[in-house]
Amino acid sequence: VLIREVLVRTADGADYPVRVGPGALAELPLLLEERVGAHRYALIGDRRVVDHHGEAALALVRDAGMPVDAFTFPPGEARKNREEWARLTDALLAAGIGRDGCVLALGGGVTGDLAGFVAATYMRGIPAVQIPTSLVAMMDASVGGKTGVDVPRGKNLVGAFHPPRFVLADTRLARTLPVAERRQGLAEAVKHGAILDPDYLARIHGAGPALLAGDEEATAEAVARSVEIKAEVVGRDEREGGMRQVLNFGHTLAHALEAASGYGLAHGSAVAVGMVLEARLGEAVEVTDPGTADRIEEVLSSLGLPTRPDPGVDPERVVELLVHDKKARGGEPRFVLLDGIGRVHAGTGGTIRWAHPVPTGVVREVLAAGAAPAI
Ligand SMILES: NC(=O)c1ccc[n+]([C@@H]2O[C@H](COP(=O)([O-])OP(=O)(O)OC[C@H]3O[C@@H](n4cnc5c(N)ncnc54)[C@H](O)[C@@H]3O)[C@@H](O)[C@H]2O)c1
Ligand SMILES: [Zn+2]
Repeated sequence: VLIREVLVRTADGADYPVRVGPGALAELPLLLEERVGAHRYALIGDRRVVDHHGEAALALVRDAGMPVDAFTFPPGEARKNREEWARLTDALLAAGIGRDGCVLALGGGVTGDLAGFVAATYMRGIPAVQIPTSLVAMMDASVGGKTGVDVPRGKNLVGAFHPPRFVLADTRLARTLPVAERRQGLAEAVKHGAILDPDYLARIHGAGPALLAGDEEATAEAVARSVEIKAEVVGRDEREGGMRQVLNFGHTLAHALEAASGYGLAHGSAVAVGMVLEARLGEAVEVTDPGTADRIEEVLSSLGLPTRPDPGVDPERVVELLVHDKKARGGEPRFVLLDGIGRVHAGTGGTIRWAHPVPTGVVREVLAAGAAPAI
């Protein structure tokens, strides 16, 4: 089988590999020996994922003579919180895991963020390994070192940078992923194409049915390309002072829509709607090539992703949330805007800027037009 490797550069020189492909999990013991060498391993995952794949991962580590225990929590975004962080931390302490331990985060993005944050803080930081099992996690969340939890005031507001020692994206583990969850991951893949790679966007479009059906080669190829794009961006700007912001395309609106829905709206779906609306914002302020939003909408619809806000969403509530967004300046929300497909707007007049203020009046108009039923 073909396992692809993408190297992620980090600010402090602790570069790490992402291994992508069917069967990559088999490399776990060797990579642990080479890149970690801990005395104890704590595998953390939600119960659903651990039921499906925990035993295979545990057996690989155990059979190589390395002590490993599993720690689980109930699935769902609602568990990515401080309480679960505390509970898992206490469980690791009770199990006697020391500074020479290592966390293996086996699961989707919730597990990666939560278990990664446990590792980042446990005894001031122990190594973490990311073993993503959802497409969201394989294509996006497991790469880049961001970890953290949600708090009542908002998503991901408490966290830490804690790059993993390595990432193993075994696309075979996604076989058990429900199609609705596969779709969520493809929203981030569309984002990667829309900001940096028109050909990739076209390939996602063409391979949509295969990707949704779980075709292994198509999945491995798309995960590898998404990881390359994400690695390229975070390799240039790990801590989001600059270019990393381009990964937030669609996300300013997505986060507001998620909050407005009381977090009932899945992240990928919110990003899908957010990308179309933010592309329309760019067109409205005459930054983005006309037709860009339609093109993104076409690809997303073909994947069965939503492209318009739910009719139940109150536009005024969304505007209010945007004005209070952490990226807003002086009451004006800021957005990553495209020049066109595959090209992010980097400002005008020589100063490079990745997030641009848009008057709330324009945001209101685009929200109102976006809420209208599709023709
Ligand atoms: N750190 C980052 O850079 C980053 C980037 C993007 C998203 N995220 C975060 O990721 C989270 C969303 O990730 P997600 O969509 O993977 O959510 P998730 O981890 O909750 O997984 C979604 C569902 O799929 C199940 N699942 C996962 N893998 C499976 C498999 N192989 N087989 C069967 N079921 C499986 C899970 O149990 C869960 O019910 C959000 O919290 C988001 O903020 C983080
Ligand atoms: Zn996202």
